[in-house]
Order: sequence, then C-alpha cells, then structure tokens
Amino acid sequence: MNLHALLENMTLREKLAQLTQLDGQFHVPGGGEELTGPLHDMHIREEDVAASGSVLGAIGAQRTRAIQEQHLKADRHHIPLLFMLDVIHGFRTIFPIPLALGCTWDPELVQEAMRVAAKEASAAGIHVNFSPMADLVRDARWGRVMESTGEDPYLNGLFAAAFVRGYQGDDLRDPDSLAACVKHLAAYGAAEAGRDYNAVELGQYALRAFYFPAYQAALDAGAAMVMSSFNALNGIPSTANAWLLRDVLRGEWKFNGPVISDWGAVQELVNHGVAEDGREAGLKALKAGVEIEMMTSDYLQYGEELVETGELDEALVDQAVLRLLELKEKMGLFDDPYRQASPEKEKAVLGCPAHRQLARKTAARSLVLLKNEGNLLPLSKESRVAVIGPYGTARHLLGGWSCTGRDEETVSLYEGLLEKAPASRFSVCAGAGFYPDDPLSLDEAVAAAREADVVLLALGEHPDMSGEATSRAFLDIPAGQTELARAVFALGKPTAVVLFNGRPLDLREISEKADAVVEAWFPGSEGGAAVADLLYGDVLPQGRLTMSFPYAVGQVPVYYNGFNTGRPIDREWSDQRYLSRYIDIPNAPLYPFGFGLNFSSVKYEGLRLSGRCAESNLEARVTLTNMGEYPAEEVAQLYIRDVSASVVRPVKELKAYRRVPLAPGESREVVFPVNTDMLAFVHEDGSRYAEPGRFRLMVGPHAAELLETEFTL
Ligand code: NOJ
Repeated sequence: MNLHALLENMTLREKLAQLTQLDGQFHVPGGGEELTGPLHDMHIREEDVAASGSVLGAIGAQRTRAIQEQHLKADRHHIPLLFMLDVIHGFRTIFPIPLALGCTWDPELVQEAMRVAAKEASAAGIHVNFSPMADLVRDARWGRVMESTGEDPYLNGLFAAAFVRGYQGDDLRDPDSLAACVKHLAAYGAAEAGRDYNAVELGQYALRAFYFPAYQAALDAGAAMVMSSFNALNGIPSTANAWLLRDVLRGEWKFNGPVISDWGAVQELVNHGVAEDGREAGLKALKAGVEIEMMTSDYLQYGEELVETGELDEALVDQAVLRLLELKEKMGLFDDPYRQASPEKEKAVLGCPAHRQLARKTAARSLVLLKNEGNLLPLSKESRVAVIGPYGTARHLLGGWSCTGRDEETVSLYEGLLEKAPASRFSVCAGAGFYPDDPLSLDEAVAAAREADVVLLALGEHPDMSGEATSRAFLDIPAGQTELARAVFALGKPTAVVLFNGRPLDLREISEKADAVVEAWFPGSEGGAAVADLLYGDVLPQGRLTMSFPYAVGQVPVYYNGFNTGRPIDREWSDQRYLSRYIDIPNAPLYPFGFGLNFSSVKYEGLRLSGRCAESNLEARVTLTNMGEYPAEEVAQLYIRDVSASVVRPVKELKAYRRVPLAPGESREVVFPVNTDMLAFVHEDGSRYAEPGRFRLMVGPHAAELLETEFTL
C-alpha cells in the first residue's frame, strides 16, 4: 500500500477524522447514527464518522466485523478502522490484576498470560490494547495502583516489556497479536495526594531516574503506541506537553508510532487552564504531538480553520495521519481488515480450558503469604472450617478493568475449597458486606466460627473500590468487615484472613490479631481455586510484594527505594527526636517491598564477593537453607546502594533476583553476577553512567532484611 499516495488523496477534513477516535456506539451497522444526539453536539458530520480512524469500546467479532464492513463501504478511501480497548489483565479469561501479576516476580509467566489476553481479544476483533500501564506507583491512596506492577523501576520495566511481548508476539501482522499502547506518559502514578487526575510535580532527576524507565522498557520491547496522561506534569498537562512528547519521546527515545490522548483529555486542557477553548486545546495538543484525540472532537471542529489561518501546519496533520496509517499497515489491516476475527474463533478460544488453567497458575503465583503463625497454613483436609466474610462466596474476584470477564464464570473461594474437602467440612456465613449500609450478621458468624476448628475470614475491598477514580483517604477494610473480624478474633480460634483488594491496605489490626494472612488481590477467573490451592498446600506460597504496605496511611507515599536524608532514623544522635521520623508511628512500612513468606523459613548466610572491584567481573554469592518441613520457592533479592555520588541515591535499589526452589533441609549457593551497568543511573540531563566510588551490596528475602557487603568502582 502506498500510504503517501493515499494521504495525498485525502482532504484535510478526512485527515482530521482519521485522527479522531469515537465510541463504538456511534458506528451503528446498517443504519448510520441520526445526527441529533451527542455527535451533533460534537459537531461531527455523518461523513466524519465514515472517515474516522479508530473506534473505542466496540467488542465482539460480530459487532466489530459489521462496523468494519460498513465503514469500508462508507469511506471513499476504504481505510480500515483500528479497534482499541482496555484489555488490562485478560479479555474473557481474567488473570490477576496487574499489581498481583507484579507479585509473581515472573515476567515470563506474565508474558504468557498476556499472550492469552491477546489471542482472546483479537479473536473478538480488537487491534490495539491500552496496556501496559507502566506508571510507577508509591501511593496506595491512588485507586489505579491496581493497574501498575508496583513501586520499583527495574521490575516495572521487566513487566512492561513482558506485557508488550505478550500482546505483540513476534509480529504485529500475526492475527493473534494486539498492538500495545503504553500509558500514561508521564508520571500519572505520582498524582499529588493520591487523588486521581491530580497534578504531578517531579524534578527532572526523579522523573528520569525512577518514572521514565518502565515506559522506555515498553518502547524498547516494541510497543506500537503511547498514551499521554491526564495529569499536568510540572505545570504543563501531558496532552499539551511538547517537551515530553516531542523532545523526550520522539527526540531522545526515537519513538515513531502514534500518540493518543487519554479519554477527553484534549478538551480537558480548557479545565486545566492552559487553553481558552476547544480551538486552542486542539491546537496545543496537536502541536505538542498528540496525534489521536480520544472521545472529543476539537481536531475535527477546528483543524481546518487552524490550517487556514496558518496557526497549524498541515504537515503536522499529515505526519500524524501517516503514523496511524503505518500502524494499520503493520497490522496487516489493508490486506485483511478483519484480521481473522470471527465468532467461531471466539468460541474456540474465549475462556478455553488451557487459558483457564494458565489463569489458575498465574493467580496461585501472585498470592502473597504475609503471616503464618504456628504454621496454621497449609490447612488439614480433616479440619472443620468456618468460611466467614463477604468474599467467602462472592464471585466478584476479577477486579477493576476486567474487560469481558464474567462473575458467573469465576470460581469463588468456597467453590475452590470444595475441590479440596467435602462440603460437610465447611460452614459458610458472609457476616458483613462491602459498604457501610450493608447488614451485619455477627451472631451467625460467631456461631459458625465457634463450631469450627479453623476460621477463614475472607475480607476485602469491593472491586469498585479500586481502579480509575477510586482514590481513598483511608486504607482500611470496610468498617462492617472490621467489626466482623473483631468479633471472630475475640473467640481466639485459629484464624486465617484472606484478603481480596486492589491496593495495599492498612492491615495493622488484621495482621496483629490473625494467625495467618494471605494477600489474594483480585485473582481473576480462577481466583477461588488458586487461593484454595495455596490454603491446602497444593501450591507453595510464591508471591512477593511489589508495593510496600503502609503501617498507617500517614506514611503514604511509602516505598523502599527512598533517600537517606541528612538525618536518617538509624543515625546516632544526641536527641533522637531531631531525626527524619514520625513521633507517633514507625518509619518502616508494615510489610516491605519484596516481602512474602514460604511455608518454611529460609535462612540466608555467608554473603561474599569474588573481589572488591566492580571492574573485575564481580560475583556475589550467598547460601540459602530451607529450615522447615515444606519445600520453599524463595525469591532471593539483590540490592545495591551507591554510597556517595553527585546526587543523592536511593538507600537501596533492586538490581537482580533469583527464584530458588529449596527442598526441606536443602542448602543452595546462589550466585549473582554484578556488572557496572547495575551501578549506572540516569542523570538530570538524560545521560546514564556509573560514578566511581563505594557501593553497598545487599542480598536477602526482602528489602528490609538484608545481608550486606561493600565494593568499589
Ligand atoms: C481512561 C483511562 O485513564 C485510560 O487508562 C484508558 O485507557 C482510557 N480511559 C480508555 O478507556
């Protein structure tokens, strides 16, 4: 296809329509929208719909095919539409939420899972996926932390690349592949006070060293598109930020694909206060480098006039359209506009047994065992178990952004438990609900708990309490459930709490009073089965936190890789008050980054280096021993600190990790090669290099329990 020739034949209005993304509802197959509704309000004409370039939110092979067919007839250039959607953690087979996927510390597995998501979504006619969200997150108040893989730039980069490879496969032409759209550029996760859509103030150093790397990793892995973020970054909304989208993204990172705005964000430049009206908003966004306008129509409404007056160079529009056409070409849409999507294919792949099996495996890997006093877990199949709390039987384990996943196809905890032991072993009582007004049935719950050997308290946030627009000021579990938990704890029965939630919560009371705590997140379609696998020891606990759990909400943002300050808390000082600390709570989070227990304890000893200079192919070695009776799947973590540099460096940064299977009583030596690249960091001007000097190397089971040694560069 000669795209340049095609472009030359397009009118300016048609080009602007190509750059406008409309909701699927506007493309009514067979009829054509009566232009009296929202389209009329948006000043969109019937021929604009015919010439538009992409669709958001049309799902299903039959529907997308019908829209495409009608569109190809109506558009005089026969340019196929791109269908875009948020397929965040699965299409019909739902995998754990991304924050839980992060806790697997297994990017290969996540890549496999996202391949499944791509297969299912592409069978249903989707072409572009608004994922991965590579935003670094440090503030659990922000509801969208569920869509991130956590607070670590290195791990986030590994996962962002894995998501992209999973979606895109080896070739975008492959009809099973989706194009990945990495989002939200930039630093959307640093919204002030954890309030969604709020402004972000970040210095160049922090932005480049901590926030940019995961976006870059997604692009290095070949992500085909980028979405700009809603937030203002250092005073300029990303949607109008030419420094970000042109100098950095195009100039420094050499990205050549299309950039799309977030939903309505072009028009929102007016609310931000950097544009007088839609005309100025459209002009600013286009000039800054936002090529596709999602869900508003400023480009279409004002583009022609802006070119006519000379305020907008048509060459800019041409370049944007060309980028979009190139993506269509790369995806093979000009040859097969339907990319083999069909109801038959959907029937064969959506939720098929192989996909469900992978969902179960992935979910089991993502569960984090936070406490296990007296080895309450794994449970004995002989025990009588009271299953108490709203998540005992609830099927809404899919979490936010669960696409076309269905609660009725989701395995509840109780159903998972029934695979392990006969129904006679269980008594079930919801006891409380998710919302303040939900009724409480404490007596019933207490009675059930009294009769049992063990209580499973299944608690958490409702799925609607995390995701977009779900910022919370308090991070506790809903009040009714706290009351329920207190009533049960008061009985003194062995109690394991299983938590279903989309963000780190304040678990102080739960973790003090429960004997065991399992963080199950929103584990997806096979969630209940996976949790039961862990509770009965059919799988080992393998998850490790990738986001710190605060001791109290007042610590937030709390993350492991912060700076030391001039007055660190561990400094010897005549008056301990004048240190960087709180007077009422500890500095340390309740559960640190990297934390997660095995059924057995694992001892780390003998950390040693092969030399003292980083230049000499250094190796760090440490011996791990399984001290218990159960096999363990340990995740040994290596952190490095640059002790003195030209800028302050984090107290520790994850640089490598190893998954180490250990049989009961087994010892293994783990070897970590240390290279100078691990010592390099991005400086304010964007250059990346290591500075000579002293480095501290730390190895251990999580960020707060580490053996240490030193070397120099
Ligand atoms: C708004 C969200 O911020 C973004 O992540 C998503 O991709 C778009 N809506 C489209 O649904």
